Amino acid sequence: MPSTIDEIRTALETRLTATRDAQDVRNAQIEYLGKKGTVTALLKQISGVAEDQRRQFGEQVNALKQWAAQAIEQKLSDLSSKAHRYDIDFSLPGQLMPAGKKHILTQVEEEVESVFLSMGFDIEEGPEIEQEYYNFEALNIPADHPARDMQDTFYLAPGMLLRTHTSPIQVRTMKRENPPIRMIATGRCYRRDAIDASHTPVFTQVEGLVVDKGITFADLKGVLQEFVRGVFGSSTNVKLLPSFFPFVEPGAETAISCPICGGKGCPTCKNSGWIEMGGSGMVHQNVLQEVGYDTSIYQGFAFGWGIERIAMIKYGIRDIRMFYDNDLDFLGQF
Ligand code: FA5
Repeated sequence: MPSTIDEIRTALETRLTATRDAQDVRNAQIEYLGKKGTVTALLKQISGVAEDQRRQFGEQVNALKQWAAQAIEQKLSDLSSKAHRYDIDFSLPGQLMPAGKKHILTQVEEEVESVFLSMGFDIEEGPEIEQEYYNFEALNIPADHPARDMQDTFYLAPGMLLRTHTSPIQVRTMKRENPPIRMIATGRCYRRDAIDASHTPVFTQVEGLVVDKGITFADLKGVLQEFVRGVFGSSTNVKLLPSFFPFVEPGAETAISCPICGGKGCPTCKNSGWIEMGGSGMVHQNVLQEVGYDTSIYQGFAFGWGIERIAMIKYGIRDIRMFYDNDLDFLGQF
């Protein structure tokens, strides 16, 4: 019989040590101490034990009962305490959570902004869901203008669309404020462009605008020169090539001397020594008049470049899709 008492004790002890489930402990309580429990059954046997062994057996069974009741209470109380509920071992070494970082496009955007902030420009914002008026009409692109085909987009409610460029922010700023204006704006743009190595339907632009008395093409070139030197290095040069955008006159495509080969010629610049970066020009008189500025007093220049393009040239990235693949091995390099 003593061995049975020992076995019962060992079995209950093992079960209590192994379990983390309070319900399991309560079940054990019933199985051992309940009306039909193992320990209760032993208590009932006491009166039938031979007289010379009864006292010793009775003491052992009562001791087992007391121990079992106390061990079960203790286990229930341990399980209800926080440390056991979450099973935390504070002595184990911690798991290192790698810190995230800013996306490469955000880094380039902020670098561009800091160069312009150092030149005294303000940073403006505008909505991505834009009125057709700000995206097109106010920029000298009426409804039937062929330039709209080159910037087809997602049309939403009547008169509303996903902006195709950051240029509507120029118009919003000019309508809100009087000259002198010196601003840049960065943000997402949307076009119905097929995806290839240099086009995505969602991309990012940086827009710049200066309006004041006596602004000339030389100011445009000087500011762009300072901008590219800040971003690509102090020996980078700017070249303005005649181009057409309805909201500037004259308009120019801006090229920079290839920062990869220093202008000597390499595969990135297709051996020309120059890389085209984006549009620019003197703000068209129709645009200045539309926002209510007196064109006999004020002139301005504007430019709009792709942030992805700037990042691709700066870091030698050949395919624009890499920015949006979310490959951490790629993004982690910057
Ligand atoms: C414009 O969007 C004009 N608003 C820029 C401008 C502003 C000109 C002010 C004059 C004065 P363009 O369509 O060329 O121009 O776009 C400018 C740049 O945006 C391109 O050089 C390119 O880098 C980027 N871009 C345009 N479409 C996409 C696209 N689908 N995917 C990635 N980048 C694009």
